[in-house]
Amino acid sequence: MTTPTIPLFLDCDTGVDDALALAYLLDVPHVDLVGIGTVSGNIDSTTAAVNTSALLGMVGRSVPVAVGAHDPLGGAYGGGAPHVHGVNGVGGVDLPAGVAAADDPAAELLVRLARSHAAAAAAGAGAAGTRKLDVLAIGPLTNLAVALELEPRLPELIGTLTIMGGAVWEPGNVSATAEANIHNDAEAARRVLTAGFDLVLVPLDVTRQHRFDDADGDRFIAAGDPLRVALGTMLHRYIDFYETVDHVRRAPLHDPLAAAIAAGEVAPTVRETPLDVVTDGAEHGRTVPVEQGPAVRVVVAADAAAADVIRNRILALDAVPA
Ligand code: BDR
Ligand code: CA
Repeated sequence: MTTPTIPLFLDCDTGVDDALALAYLLDVPHVDLVGIGTVSGNIDSTTAAVNTSALLGMVGRSVPVAVGAHDPLGGAYGGGAPHVHGVNGVGGVDLPAGVAAADDPAAELLVRLARSHAAAAAAGAGAAGTRKLDVLAIGPLTNLAVALELEPRLPELIGTLTIMGGAVWEPGNVSATAEANIHNDAEAARRVLTAGFDLVLVPLDVTRQHRFDDADGDRFIAAGDPLRVALGTMLHRYIDFYETVDHVRRAPLHDPLAAAIAAGEVAPTVRETPLDVVTDGAEHGRTVPVEQGPAVRVVVAADAAAADVIRNRILALDAVPA
């Protein structure tokens, strides 16, 4: 039996683990990456688009990349995470020049693709190739919140929204209670998590359980092509950071794990609960289980082979030779 093709929109803040997630997705034959939006998080949204386009160019792939929000809702971008992802977002690794970005802003591209896929799915009534758009968000949720403002029916128009973000029953990574993507735009996160999407949340609770180590970086570099040499080099630098906080040379697979769950290649164990997001005070950005509201499928564990699945795809991806 063949796996149905998933038309997927990726929203990202590229980012070392975003880059690994993208490389993984590009090798999944049943994922059709139809558009990418960028948002400020690990790096500003314009540089994130440059990084994303460069990575696509390194494997000769063409996907529309739309620059999204520079600032979080009602605030100003705080300048990213150079201590984690390097000054250019990709561990300080020099990538070749990226191709030009799409004309639409990210939220508009997302809405346009959501509408067109929903219309095709309705017209095709389940026929092959007619399916609603799925969305994978691995950065702050500003573009999703803007898209919701532009199109309040977005939760009905798309299929599943998978989000890497939050720390639900475990500690945060930018404060005792908050995870970076949610913390960077807590207001947007609150709107998205309570909007009624068919929503899978992949929080730190599970992403810290699945990691790459230096041997993975070495394997990527040994492949010898520009993309994998770049990914391996940035992974070693990402591990340098995680060693300072976790005291092991192993980096969590935050975004790649969310990608593998969105692609249906890694089985998640979920707990369902409505969630709210704290938008002020010391717990700003905390994702809190509540009694009322739309249920969110919070991933608390994932298939033990997740890192193998992700590594093997990154190693198998068709490369443009050096
Ligand atoms: C998330 O924040 C970013 O630094 C990573 O790319 C990931 O999306 C982890 O908290
Ligand atoms: Ca990210």
